[in-house]
Amino acid sequence: QTIYLSDYQPYPFRIARVDLTFGLAPRATRVHSRIEFAPNPARPGRHDLFLHGEKLRLHSARIDGKPVAAEAMAITDEGLTVTARALPDGPFLWEAEVEIDPEGNTALEGLYMSGGMYCTQCEAEGFRKITYYPDRPDVMAPFKVRIESDLPVLLSNGNPVAKGAGWAEWNDPWPKPAYLFALVAGNLVNLPDSFTTRSGRKVDLNIWVRPGDLDRCAFAMDSLIRSMKWDEDVYGREYDLDVFNIVAVDDFNMGAMENKGLNIFNSKLVLASPETATDLDFERIEGVIAHEYFHNWTGNRITCRDWFQLCLKEGLTVFRDQQFTSDMRSGPVKRIEDVLTLRARQFREDMGPLAHPPRPDHFVEINNFYTATVYEKGAEVIGMLKRLVGDDGYARALDLYFERHDGEAATIEDWLKVFEDATGRDLTQFRRWYTDAGTPRLTVAEDWAPGAGGGTFTLTFTQVTPPTPGQDIKPPRVIPVAVGLLNPNGDEVVPTTVLEMTEATQSFAFEGLASRPVASILRGFSAPVVLERAALAAERAFLLAHDTDPFNRWEAGRALAKDVLVRMVTEDAAPSEDYLSALGRLLADEALDPAFRALCLRLPSEDDLAQTLAEAGRSPDPDRIHAAREDLARAIATRFEGPLAQTYEALADAGPFSPDAAAAGRRALRVAALALLNRIDGGARAAALFERATNMTESAAALACLIEADRAEPALAAFHARWKENRLVIDKWFMLQVVHAAPERAAEVAERLAAHPDFDWKNPNRARALLGGLAANHAGFHAASGAAYRFYADWLLRLDALNPQIAARLSTAFETWARYDADRRALVAAELERIRATPGLSRDLSEMTGRILGA
Ligand code: ARG
Ligand code: ZN
Repeated sequence: QTIYLSDYQPYPFRIARVDLTFGLAPRATRVHSRIEFAPNPARPGRHDLFLHGEKLRLHSARIDGKPVAAEAMAITDEGLTVTARALPDGPFLWEAEVEIDPEGNTALEGLYMSGGMYCTQCEAEGFRKITYYPDRPDVMAPFKVRIESDLPVLLSNGNPVAKGAGWAEWNDPWPKPAYLFALVAGNLVNLPDSFTTRSGRKVDLNIWVRPGDLDRCAFAMDSLIRSMKWDEDVYGREYDLDVFNIVAVDDFNMGAMENKGLNIFNSKLVLASPETATDLDFERIEGVIAHEYFHNWTGNRITCRDWFQLCLKEGLTVFRDQQFTSDMRSGPVKRIEDVLTLRARQFREDMGPLAHPPRPDHFVEINNFYTATVYEKGAEVIGMLKRLVGDDGYARALDLYFERHDGEAATIEDWLKVFEDATGRDLTQFRRWYTDAGTPRLTVAEDWAPGAGGGTFTLTFTQVTPPTPGQDIKPPRVIPVAVGLLNPNGDEVVPTTVLEMTEATQSFAFEGLASRPVASILRGFSAPVVLERAALAAERAFLLAHDTDPFNRWEAGRALAKDVLVRMVTEDAAPSEDYLSALGRLLADEALDPAFRALCLRLPSEDDLAQTLAEAGRSPDPDRIHAAREDLARAIATRFEGPLAQTYEALADAGPFSPDAAAAGRRALRVAALALLNRIDGGARAAALFERATNMTESAAALACLIEADRAEPALAAFHARWKENRLVIDKWFMLQVVHAAPERAAEVAERLAAHPDFDWKNPNRARALLGGLAANHAGFHAASGAAYRFYADWLLRLDALNPQIAARLSTAFETWARYDADRRALVAAELERIRATPGLSRDLSEMTGRILGA
């Protein structure tokens, strides 16, 4: 059943307060609710009372103290309706007692158990598995919670009120929607700290983990404190409760959740030590801790009216966490990383059958819309807005947003209106970024007209957005194109200027130039578009050497590498001299940030190349792509063996470990050099490093190299023996073996690992390590035999019966199927049809497979 944005109606009742009492028991938890309803003036007239509820055993239901008559109440799989006739005219008190089964809850949505502890995940629609309630984000209320259990630690939202032997009470004064409800109970230990807000509120901070994990919480705590300070300094946002709790759980469907005052995290986004976490893990922890904390204002204090508005909170909060990381680390490096992810995940989504706008207008299962488009493109759209209205305009608009909508459930229209009101700009056309799917392709033509008083350089842009499912016509959008001009000796003659494109085709002229300039276009990746520019290799090499915009400098190198690889795949060409010598200069440039050089050494992924070929109308051959990429890596290693080896040695970790950006950048460059050298030294350096490494970045990199060199058996055994008690590290052990397996063996390796006693497929991280790893092995996943497709589909079905959200998410591995040749397409289609024909399929997976097939 499809839900439409255009059907939105306010809920007929308001809630003045909610009181919940939980009697915790693994198989039979009792939930007693008292909810004070009153008619909602926004929906005049008499209405039935509909409360969502799924998988609940109702023991009693009362209105104003009197049992609700059986004939006044109807219960379905989706909820409960009390007929309007049985409701008092004005306000009334609803009381119910239901029983639920946390231990039997394998979907990990609602109240469930993980490693002996109780925890919850309610976003988007999990609260309805806890009790009967209007489970929609526009119904906001203050909550009081009493938890009864013998477990030592009992947590919920808001401030602690009182506790005694076997119980605890919490009060959350800030009205919130049910999706922000949380409860945790368990035998937990805490890392305490505190933060004093700038207006003097002392906040107790705690990170709660299982005993044994306490030594790996310090970095997360430090990240939290820096986030709280940053949100005060940059957005003027202060925390608003006496406590802020974070809990780490091992079984979690996603990264983390911003429940008011009680954030719940996947343990992989909390726990870190130098020995167990890579630099990438540290950076993600910092970013996600910040993200969830920032939701306190962008998400919780101001929430979404309905789930179509999801990007209102997610796009903005991603944008904010990106700004935070870029302030904590390196702005240019962060921008490059974000664009890499955007292209790898969101462009891929936008160019396939799952394309949807940042604000969709219909869905079957909302959990299927926690996507790269809603999150990452949602953030890009805000970046464009900021570029268009300027930093001051952005700051004024945000102040107005917080002032006008605090305590409300808002929409994208509300969001755009504050920008219009604060800056006077008309955003009618800009709104299309929210409502239209698809990635615009921007082509550019250059013209140079010399003249007596200086020449004129003209850039003519044309934008075209290909059709996406359900949206054939794509009117032109507002595209901010940041441009700078360099003269032929590398000096900047026109600094970064934002051209505002609003038409399908539009020209911009730069006058009075002494000589024909070289244009640096789409600086900082100023809009999420595909720039199609038939530049000469020499021009790209020039920009790689001279551009003053670090993003475009990297981008020039990237484009060069891609051109080289595409020609290697399609014409058996040799790597171009322009590219190799530019790379050599870069490698030798000690003045450049090591993290930046590491990014330049990273070749475009096989999936990226497949997408590029598909866009050029060719069906990508995964084996050839793999071979070309290997050949190029080997050519680079052979040509620059000396400098690479020198870089590798010079960057050996000295002194105590630091997770900061500078140290991480040096390690990134060191392991990037190692990965290239590994192609010609037969794994010799990797074997030595594996023995000596004292941090996980280097251990994991060395192990990956050994797997690729096909000499990893002893290292894999040693790694497993050393880390068998650490679930997060064993996830890496699974993942690395599949990702780095030779393509022809990937399915077989995955199959063997799936039979390993440690393959606890009920743990989402473990399932994702193996299956996500297989999907990330491009040539292995797309092996012509179809073995990987079959294996993967078998597991999707198995997972679906247990945890539909995980199965649905993993099914996106198939979203690119239409790119490939007819044989592969037939193999994938057969697997997808087989899944769809399976009885009892979840709504989640059936929507996904249907959309992927274009059904
Ligand atoms: N709001 C959470 C976050 O972005 C994620 C919740 C994901 N929920 C889901 N059903 N997929 O931090
Ligand atoms: Zn979020």
